[in-house]
Amino acid sequence: MALLHILTYPDKRLHKVAKPVEVVDDRIRKLVADMAETMYAAPGVGLAATQVDAHERVIVIDVSDTHDQLQAFINPEIIWSSDEKQDHEEGCLSVPGIYDFVERPEKVRVRAQNEKGETFEIDCEGLLAVCIQHEMDHLMGRVFVEYLSSLKQTRIRGKMKKLEKAL
Ligand code: NI
Repeated sequence: MALLHILTYPDKRLHKVAKPVEVVDDRIRKLVADMAETMYAAPGVGLAATQVDAHERVIVIDVSDTHDQLQAFINPEIIWSSDEKQDHEEGCLSVPGIYDFVERPEKVRVRAQNEKGETFEIDCEGLLAVCIQHEMDHLMGRVFVEYLSSLKQTRIRGKMKKLEKAL
């Protein structure tokens, strides 16, 4: 396994749209393993392949308190979402130090493939629902700060630039 470099906003590569995975093979399983290691090391609760400059539809998530419930979602699609919305505070490994509220459907049903290439469906609510929608946005080239006002986005880009210079 290997730690991967996480792109930081406003890197243009975060806006690339990921391609579907055609075959779930050892290459994809290695990507999943490396992404999981990178997510746990960060530490974070979710990571999309886009964030490590791999533009394929792969997500890893672990919202458990024990950090031992890794879930990989390959080619995820939302097949149902609730009319009820919830406002939840979000953060992102690609936008370090920034947290803000985003409104999303409270519940979603997701269909995806696992590391064996098997298709499964899962009903998500709470943090898992927030996280999967946030990560699926990444696969479409969208970062959560883009839901915020343009004033906030300008401020965040300014902060990120300062952070970059400080490194
Ligand atoms: Ni993120």
